[in-house]
Amino acid sequence: MKNRAFGVFYRKYEQILEKEILSSEIPDHIAVIMDGNRRYAGQLGKARSFGHAMGAEVTEQVIEWCYEIGVKQLTLYALSTENFHRSEEEVDGLFNLINEKFLKLYGDKRTYEKEMQVRVIGDRIRLPAFLNESIEKIETATEHHRKFNLNVAIAYGGRQDIMQAVRDIATCVSSGKLSLEEVDENLISKHLYPAPGVSVPNVDLVIRTGGDERVSNFLPWQANGSECATYFCAPFWPEFRKIDLLRSIRVYQARKDEKKQEHSYRASEVINFLGIGKCGEKSEELGPLLPVNKQRVS
Ligand code: IPE
Ligand code: IPE
Ligand code: MG
Repeated sequence: MKNRAFGVFYRKYEQILEKEILSSEIPDHIAVIMDGNRRYAGQLGKARSFGHAMGAEVTEQVIEWCYEIGVKQLTLYALSTENFHRSEEEVDGLFNLINEKFLKLYGDKRTYEKEMQVRVIGDRIRLPAFLNESIEKIETATEHHRKFNLNVAIAYGGRQDIMQAVRDIATCVSSGKLSLEEVDENLISKHLYPAPGVSVPNVDLVIRTGGDERVSNFLPWQANGSECATYFCAPFWPEFRKIDLLRSIRVYQARKDEKKQEHSYRASEVINFLGIGKCGEKSEELGPLLPVNKQRVS
């Protein structure tokens, strides 16, 4: 009874929150550090593989939620280069699980209805042949899709990505295919995974579950310098709910609003400094342009 009442309350809250966030700007690109699978399993006294399997189910739901809300690009951190230090059994289990999920996506008509393009970012040489085969299959089947992008980071490390791009560009420069002047931000982006020629765009919002507040070498190029919002939350990845996603988007929107207010505040400071207002009005008359908490009390 208590659980049912909570369920009803939860769904209502979710609806209200969803309505609220849909009335404002949705981030184009969300990147997720899906952390806490093993701790989740541990607290239930289950094997690590159980935590990873439950986490993968949540991943499937998150793809749906993001698509429904209108996110255009979702990048998921599934396996880092550092994760190769884990036991062979665990890493093999993860390869199998990821493979299973790719094959499921490949066979699922919703992938095609959604026009979802699936791409892998990471060092594929480190992946087993069977997984590379499935990756090839899903990437080829979805390469012309343009509505929604799902990027899956496997055997991924941000620094490693930058390093391989630098090597690639250096080779092009030394063979004369590229001149030094042509090396700019845009070109570097195009040499990052899933190189060549296609790039993962700047990230608007990074979410990390599991309570740790670090970014673990994830998308340093795409997430830094683009002033993306970050949302760290306590639930372990298998516990992540739609409410958590909606809350993270609300944080993104609040960040955007703050930035807008900062900009108009700065603009009016400049106008005040110059001593002129709009159409020659006195600067004092510009008071309401300032965010309430930033208005000068002189
Ligand atoms: C995230 O959960 C999944 C991967 C890194 C593959 P973890 O496996 O890191 O689980 P915790 O953080 O140790 O609980
Ligand atoms: C981050 O999780 C990487 C993935 C989610 C794949 P980790 O559990 O590996 O993170 P760190 O290394 O402890 O920061
Ligand atoms: Mg972890």
